[in-house]
Amino acid sequence: MKRAETIDFLSEHNQRRIIQHYQRLSPDKQNLFRRNLEGLDLPLIFKLHQEFSGKNTAALVPVDIQPAPIITVPKTPSELVFQEKACVEGEALLRENRVAVLVVAGGQGSRFGFEGPKGIFPVSPVKKKSLFQLFSETVSALNCRYRAAIPLLIMTSRENDGTVKDFFRANHFFGLDSGAVFFFTQEMLPTITADGNLILKDETHLFANPDGHGGSLKALHKSGLLSELVQKGFSDLFYGQVDNPLVKIADPVFLGYHRMAESEFSLKVLRRRNAAEKIGVYALLDGKPGVIEYSDLAPGSDCLSGGEDMRFWAGSIAIHILSLSFVERLNCQGFSLPYHRAVKVVEAPGQDGKAEKATVWKFETFVFDGLPLAARTCCVETFREEEFAPVKNRQGEDSADTARKAISDRFRRWLVEAGSAVVAPGVPVEISPRYALDPAELAEKLKGKTLVIKEDTYLE
Ligand code: UD1
Repeated sequence: MKRAETIDFLSEHNQRRIIQHYQRLSPDKQNLFRRNLEGLDLPLIFKLHQEFSGKNTAALVPVDIQPAPIITVPKTPSELVFQEKACVEGEALLRENRVAVLVVAGGQGSRFGFEGPKGIFPVSPVKKKSLFQLFSETVSALNCRYRAAIPLLIMTSRENDGTVKDFFRANHFFGLDSGAVFFFTQEMLPTITADGNLILKDETHLFANPDGHGGSLKALHKSGLLSELVQKGFSDLFYGQVDNPLVKIADPVFLGYHRMAESEFSLKVLRRRNAAEKIGVYALLDGKPGVIEYSDLAPGSDCLSGGEDMRFWAGSIAIHILSLSFVERLNCQGFSLPYHRAVKVVEAPGQDGKAEKATVWKFETFVFDGLPLAARTCCVETFREEEFAPVKNRQGEDSADTARKAISDRFRRWLVEAGSAVVAPGVPVEISPRYALDPAELAEKLKGKTLVIKEDTYLE
């Protein structure tokens, strides 16, 4: 919407308080206010408000939930052969330069409470490398191994875009070619009260939130990056969240399973820790593959029942591969992912300018809602200790401490499996992705050597 039209549009939608506030501003600030409105999809927020008013959200929860087919961790010789075949297929995709990597990093990280974008958090156990550094070095190591030039795409939000870019520049893109790192920004959507009023964040901004990680697929299209990738011959997008330092970026085996299934949308799952774990559950939802959020499941639902033989054991760890043609299709007639509504309490300036609490609706799309829209999907099981240690909370479960320990434990395990290291209990260990990307590469590097690890160790 053009800057000049925004105020009239708000007037037509009865935003009396906002208009009164606007009229009290100086001409310069009025201009700033209008400029800040420009990037917000105002028609969309009023449309969503209308759609969700009086909507029974319970009716959106699927009626029939059944376990879905999953390629489980191989146990039999034929499953192992199939896995090896997948690896060959996936490696071919990488060598042919068909794979791009996307890290979504636009979230607000409110539970974590770290000042600044989560990606710059120093997470590694010995070198205190940031999440962004770990991902960049992994891409760099993959480029070397497969003689590829994998584009690294980082989705930021308007709030953290500048800081993220500065961080990459200040660190010389962690050895990657700066022309192969692409930043794009997701959209923001205004928050709205149940009775349809937008609220102010400060003098010149409306209260708004990033439009969810599903917004990455919309912003990829709108930024022009999607068509650029397609034109350059890329076919698939590896997708991961910024909060998981153990993500196995562009895992060839996963890529291979995806390719062999001719899948448009693939995901990795693991065995849920227990019924209370805050991860999405992968299942057939009214007959179609999908992920149902832990927060949408009713207490007592079959999906939430715990126990060793948990029928719905598959938790989604938000690691995906999407075919680019599918992402194009999602965008071809508007954007097809559905919006979810969350009710939040925020602090906003009241009538007299003093902060007061307001209950608002926040709208987001979720990337995994693409699953039921895909023609073919593929789901692969993995081990938690190898691939999932998210940094979500300030302390306790899924915190920086548990992630650091998980990283160190993984490398200690690799070293012991390589058969050439004696590692003292509890000693932090870190291996650079450029030294070894997996246990097989580590075993090869350490052939004929014996390591005795007694203190903090970093292999590079
Ligand atoms: C998410 C998934 C959940 C999955 C879990 C695995 C949702 C709704 N649920 O839960 O199914 O099991 O991760 O860790 O996502 N992000 C953006 N832009 C946004 C919102 C989020 O880039 O507008 C990014 C964040 O930076 C983060 C990721 O998406 O990397 C996850 O977002 P978060 O809201 O923390 O999801 P979870 O509740 O942890």
